[in-house]
Amino acid sequence: MSNILQKKLGQVLHITLNRPEKKNALTPTMYSDLSSALIRAKDDFDVRAVVLSGAGDAFTAGNDIFDFLNSPPTGPDSPVVQFLSVLHDFPKPLIAAVHGNAVGIGTTMLLHCDLAYATADAKLAMPFVSLGLVPEAGSSLLFPKLVGHALASEIFLTGRTFSGTEACEMRLVNSVETDPLGKALKTAALIAAQPPTSVINTKALLKSGHHQAVAMVMEAEGELFRIALESDEAQIAFMKFLENKEKGQK
Ligand code: COA
Repeated sequence: MSNILQKKLGQVLHITLNRPEKKNALTPTMYSDLSSALIRAKDDFDVRAVVLSGAGDAFTAGNDIFDFLNSPPTGPDSPVVQFLSVLHDFPKPLIAAVHGNAVGIGTTMLLHCDLAYATADAKLAMPFVSLGLVPEAGSSLLFPKLVGHALASEIFLTGRTFSGTEACEMRLVNSVETDPLGKALKTAALIAAQPPTSVINTKALLKSGHHQAVAMVMEAEGELFRIALESDEAQIAFMKFLENKEKGQK
């Protein structure tokens, strides 16, 4: 069974992160499968919008920490970097439905979605600094642009978790919903019924002001991220996660 599920509902593609036993933590294979799904969706005239959600009780716990330790991404060809590039360039509406944990890339990918819905008690976090890393996915540009420098600094530098309600207040998500997936699918169907070229052109225009700048920031973040992954600070943080897991204290 694949860890990335795809289901076509009319002209909407629903992609599910499907590794619930690991809170949908993302592996290199999952990133590659996500990229392939988005590339196919881009080229398929009959896909007009994409909805992304997580199976089980989480959206995603972010990058698999074992992979950070054992097979860290090495460069622009790595599956995670490829995925971020496909995500950044994806031309059709992308709608996220968030519940439970949305950690690391689970939160930063929302900055690339066109719409997002979350449960009030969803737990979002970008604990890059706490892990000895740096922000990724263009979040060091996109997040302060959205919420202002002071709040972005507080969230990045403390690594604290914030709720779906707070994410809505900061306009990272459109609204808080008891059934974010239902809401996302409904909105996707509405958008899918709109004239498709107009939808694509409008999304491109909405992003045109900062698309190139985000690509450049993503490259710079990627270089720092790869260096940070090898650092003592990161290795200690990853080992701590593993030790706490063994002790049952995560
Ligand atoms: N990488 C690898 N495995 C992960 C994971 C990750 N990012 N997140 C969760 N898991 C695994 C856990 O090790 C556990 O596996 P086990 O059942 O074999 O012990 C399983 O998923 C369930 O997670 P658990 O920690 O028991 O759930 P929880 O509800 O207590 O906590 C989180 C959920 C998301 C808060 C916690 O798992 C966590 O902090 N994960 C790491 C998040 C992270 O730092 N990601 C990287 C961001 S850059």
